Amino acid sequence: MTLQDTENLYTSGLYTKRPIAIVRGQGARLWDSEGREYIDCVGGQGSANLGHGNAAIAEALAAQARTLVSCPEMFYNDRRAELLEKLVSLAPAGLNRAYLCNSGTEAVEAALKFARLKTGRPETVAAMRGFHGRTLGALSATWEKKYREPFEPLLPGFKHIAYNDLAALDGAVTEQTAAVILEVVQGEGGVRPGTPDFLRGAERICRQRGALLILDEVQTGFGRTGQRFACQHYDLHPDLLCLAKSIAGGMPMGAVLFGDRVGVLPPQVHGSTFGGNPLACAAALAALDYLESQHLADRASELGAWFIARLKRIQSPVIREVRGLGLMVGIELKHKVTPYLQALMARGVLALPAGLTVMRFLPPLVISQDQLASVADEVEAVLRQPISEQ
Ligand SMILES: Cc1ncc(COP(=O)(O)O)c(C=O)c1O
Repeated sequence: MTLQDTENLYTSGLYTKRPIAIVRGQGARLWDSEGREYIDCVGGQGSANLGHGNAAIAEALAAQARTLVSCPEMFYNDRRAELLEKLVSLAPAGLNRAYLCNSGTEAVEAALKFARLKTGRPETVAAMRGFHGRTLGALSATWEKKYREPFEPLLPGFKHIAYNDLAALDGAVTEQTAAVILEVVQGEGGVRPGTPDFLRGAERICRQRGALLILDEVQTGFGRTGQRFACQHYDLHPDLLCLAKSIAGGMPMGAVLFGDRVGVLPPQVHGSTFGGNPLACAAALAALDYLESQHLADRASELGAWFIARLKRIQSPVIREVRGLGLMVGIELKHKVTPYLQALMARGVLALPAGLTVMRFLPPLVISQDQLASVADEVEAVLRQPISEQ
């Protein structure tokens, strides 16, 4: 039996698989079980900002694994204290506390609960095409029908307005609104950057009406868009900031940073066994050091601008639009994206979809310009003509 057969036999069935087994990585390169090399623009769906096989993360993990792995938050812990201080020091101004958890959806779930707890209000305003995770609270904020419908009825009190439509947001936020939850750049919804007017207007409306602004930077955080956090492009001041994916160099971790409008939370109302465990904290400390010392956000900004400009020069009847921020890049096609992603994979480049028609690139931020140039060449070759005519 191949390892693919074994997985197929025992897996949940929830994932659409590609027919390769990835077994090793270094920087922005991955290798499959046949020894084939790929340039990775999936980047662990945005969790591999620091690159694969990162020695700093590996060493931090090994040292901490030998020292202490488990330590629930009923005790204090040295690594956790260090990480909380570090996270707050790197956070946008005003965010001075953090709740640690294990994934993006958990961070969103917690932020939604904190907003309801703090305001005593029952409703949440989210955006069409928004993606916030798959637990029932986060799923209620998520827009896409195919994720929601099998699990309806979801939580009551969630409204979805068109992203970047400030008038619609203005009409939706009432004295019943606990929170507005938004991505700064919509990721799964098609790599769609928010407009400054919309995002700043959302902050203003929240302040005026006593609702809390939750920014979901699970995908855009930690350098991805060319700033440490994408909200810094727009000088936004969220009340709650959801983080995960790359926070711990690829180890599972999530966090919600929050400020004085939320304040200290009462004991026992929320929590997590694994949240803030020393192993994940040690990985996150190493990841944050690496991110800062290697100036990965600046790198994402420069390389991203170059990559987007290069992709915009591709002459193709298949392309509708190239867009993105930093190294979060999408090409909207006039056709379904899957066959183009398959063709790209056959040429040694791994990229991912965002919806049905957008080809998305989330490479590790350590990717070189030469590697990005190769990616662009392969994309150009694949998109030169509609795939049925190739
Ligand atoms: C913006 C955003 N929020 C939340 C999530 C959910 O994160 P996780 O898969 O870690 O639960 C994702 C995942 O893609 C995301 O992109």
